Amino acid sequence: MAARLLDVRDLRVEFRTRDGIAEAVGGVSYTVDAGQTLAVLGESGSGKSVTAQAIMGILDSPPGRITGGQVLFRGRDLLTMGAEERRRIRGAAMAMIFQDALSALNPVLPVGAQLAEMYEVHRGMSRGDARRRAVELMDRVRIPAAAQRAGDYPHQFSGGMRQRIMIAMAMALEPDLIIADEPTTALDVTVQAQVMELLAELRREYAMGLVLITHDLGVVADVADTIAVMYAGRIMEAAPVRDLYRRPAHPYTRGLLDSVPRVDHGGGHARRGHGDHGGHESRGGYGGHRGGKLYAIRGAPPSPLALPSGCPFHPRCPRAQEVCRVERPPLYEVTAAGATPASGGRTSACHFWKDELDALDAVNA
Ligand SMILES: Nc1ncnc2c1ncn2[C@@H]1O[C@H](COP(=O)(O)OP(=O)(O)OP(=O)(O)O)[C@@H](O)[C@H]1O
Ligand code: SF4
Ligand SMILES: [Mg+2]
Repeated sequence: MAARLLDVRDLRVEFRTRDGIAEAVGGVSYTVDAGQTLAVLGESGSGKSVTAQAIMGILDSPPGRITGGQVLFRGRDLLTMGAEERRRIRGAAMAMIFQDALSALNPVLPVGAQLAEMYEVHRGMSRGDARRRAVELMDRVRIPAAAQRAGDYPHQFSGGMRQRIMIAMAMALEPDLIIADEPTTALDVTVQAQVMELLAELRREYAMGLVLITHDLGVVADVADTIAVMYAGRIMEAAPVRDLYRRPAHPYTRGLLDSVPRVDHGGGHARRGHGDHGGHESRGGYGGHRGGKLYAIRGAPPSPLALPSGCPFHPRCPRAQEVCRVERPPLYEVTAAGATPASGGRTSACHFWKDELDALDAVNA
């Protein structure tokens, strides 16, 4: 069995705002094993980034505050260990990649110098050795003419090349775990695919764990092993990717999957084949996510200042019953008790997960 790298347990984060306390993360649990990719999926505002920030220790605090839970890294809780040890782990063993490389990189320092600085500060290398390592790394992430370009500033690179440089920064100290928060969202489609491929390749080569925050279901199908679907600061469903795509055990997941046009855009995008929401095929031919008519989930996600009672999804859920308004569903074990998605287990925070699966199976029979 692969080593458990990250084990987030019942993590809670709130923000004190002028309008009251916003419960941004309301008890999130997920795990990542060495060499595995966990995709975290969910609509805007569902708490994906805040969870990542709390794990990495870069939460905007105040107004943010971790109010509960554990963040176990190789079995040790980052939230309770001494500051010095925590800094060491977060500095070298964990790294983060952001959506916007231009604001994550230092605008007034050439990129080669920024990379070299990592080696000088953390590895105690001489300036010359560090510069050489920096160029090797730029070469590794396939920056053309790396030696010449090391003297250029971030704004002199294209968006895709800048993202590669940020990946190089994250990789420099060969971390065990990388958290990538929408790393390709700002790029155009072909460049997205190249950057994602690079990230997947490095993950394999270094047997790192990767938490990939994304809203792109196509990307998830291609690169992730397991997936956690978030809504209103909670996990709605977690499963091995294939199981979740074929047989979602939560109405919210099903809504997300149904909002992607049924079009094969060549990336091995595994779509389930149930046909009860007919007429959603993309009309634009090679339209990808944009050209199609979508089955969108009705309504909008709730404000973290005023979460619905019971199941937070109930105002939008086509399956909602009275009990959903009253009782908050726990994360039910859909498979064997205690199994995590990495070992084939699945969980669903829906009172009616079984009916959801039965209905799908009936349609597909
Ligand atoms: N600094 C902050 N102050 C107050 N509220 C915040 C702050 N940062 C985040 N929040 C709130 O926390 C909730 C979760 O935000 P988060 O950024 O984690 O969402 P997300 O899932 O990453 O969304 P997106 O897909 O748009 O990136 C949101 O309601 C957001 O408004
Ligand atoms: S618990 Fe009820 S409201 Fe929530 S997802 Fe399940 S059926 Fe829908
Ligand atoms: Mg975010």
